[in-house]
Amino acid sequence: MQPLKRLWTLTVPGLLLLSGAVVVERAINASPLVATVQDEPNKPADEDPASPPEFFWQRSDPSLIQDEPLTVVVPKGLPPLTPKVVVPAHNPLTKGKYELGRQLYFDPRLSGNGEVSCATCHNPDKGWSDGGKVSTGIHGQTGNRSAPTVFNTAYGKSMFWDGRSPSLEGQAQGPIVNPIEMGMPKHENVVRKIREIPGYNQQFEKVFGTKPTLDGIAKAIATFERVAALSGNSKFDKYNGGENDALSESEKRGMVLFGLRLNADDEFAPGVELQKAKCTLCHVGANFTDEQYHNLGIGWNEEKQKFDDPGRWAPEPIGQKSDASLGAFKTPTVRNAALTGPYMHDGSLKTLEDVVEHYNKGGTPNPSLDVDMKPLKLTPQESADVVAFMKALTGEVKTTAELLPTLPSDADGKVPDPRAALSTPKKKAVQAEPHAAR
Ligand code: HEC
Ligand code: HEC
Repeated sequence: MQPLKRLWTLTVPGLLLLSGAVVVERAINASPLVATVQDEPNKPADEDPASPPEFFWQRSDPSLIQDEPLTVVVPKGLPPLTPKVVVPAHNPLTKGKYELGRQLYFDPRLSGNGEVSCATCHNPDKGWSDGGKVSTGIHGQTGNRSAPTVFNTAYGKSMFWDGRSPSLEGQAQGPIVNPIEMGMPKHENVVRKIREIPGYNQQFEKVFGTKPTLDGIAKAIATFERVAALSGNSKFDKYNGGENDALSESEKRGMVLFGLRLNADDEFAPGVELQKAKCTLCHVGANFTDEQYHNLGIGWNEEKQKFDDPGRWAPEPIGQKSDASLGAFKTPTVRNAALTGPYMHDGSLKTLEDVVEHYNKGGTPNPSLDVDMKPLKLTPQESADVVAFMKALTGEVKTTAELLPTLPSDADGKVPDPRAALSTPKKKAVQAEPHAAR
């Protein structure tokens, strides 16, 4: 649909700043900002049309920006965070933005009841997930999908198990207003809440040259995730970098079964068939994913003869629906798999041994099972070797303690403790709704 073209006026009222006990009001611009834009700023599709556009997006005043580029040396084995290729051109990495994103990521004030933060379900110490079969959000409500890890999502081409969001920036907006995750009624409410916190107003001004907006919140959180959740330099990466003794014999056999060759100068004779386990047909490249969607039969309901969760099929636009996408989900990374269980979109497989067993039997038969899902005939030793190899993909990780920020205080001086939001929210007497498609 062609967006409505019109001229709109953006007025930036005075900013409330707290200094000691004295409330000082000052305008971030001497004169009201008048912007001429071609298109109306994009609001999230489900947004209340009555919400003021300047809550979502504002033209920045470059003279306010006080920030500097952030250079990141990625861990061994990962591709560089190339600007415009890995890091979007519209959201370059900067130091102040990373710091702002770190605070927002751990801040439970982004949720409706002030008890849930992104880290509730993506806790760095729990493999940037929550350790649960499915995740538990506000008022202890449970969804029907497992929280995927944030590890190395910097390289992801799409987000969510069904890929319905194209970027980390797009993804970060969803959970805030999801009624069973963070439960804010509208994005307008979260922006209002952030604007009541003086420390956030100051940071948004320096980082974006604007008041807090949804655009800025999404960009800052994405920047934090892109950098803080990088993980590489695993035993495999050391081996791949030329240290032939970085992997054990079992790990090397597992690597060959998985689908990767030994180093040319490694004299070890693995005695197993290359790619017998077929894993690299889908878990390929530096982050061990083809970024595609496949049906492994996970979640097939034999009794009802259907998938309880339609997977990739749901976000496919009308006119492009394919039955082959029913029950297909995005290939996740296998890096750090030892830290991110339980596994699969529904958390139905508890251990890495269970995962290999699922592949070994050729998946669960159903009408749209991926063509590459065939019984593998792995021996028990070979299955154990594949598991050993996956464990050798555990990389260096930052701990929650290392990343936890001090949050900016409320207008009344109260500082929330981000650690309070790291435990699973308690059940309250609220009816759980099915995981809304955002
Ligand atoms: C109540 C638990 C919960 C909270 C809170 C939560 N998430 Fe998630 N997150 C999930 C679940 C479940 C999914 C998968 C949903 C799906 O695929 O439909 C997900 C998906 C993601 C993904 C996609 C990863 C991938 O590989 O596709 C990212 C990134 C992410 N969340 C980041 C965040 C951020 C940032 C926040 C805070 C703004 C947040 N999450 C809040 C549970 C949560
Ligand atoms: C046909 C493509 C394909 C092949 C072949 C394949 N995978 Fe997967 N893998 C996927 C997809 C897709 C998922 C997620 C499926 C779901 O949740 O329904 C997945 C999930 C996983 C997970 C769970 C990760 C998580 O965070 O939940 C692990 C571990 C894994 N695969 C390891 C392997 C191993 C080991 C092999 C070889 C024995 C293998 N995969 C072969 C596509 C594939």
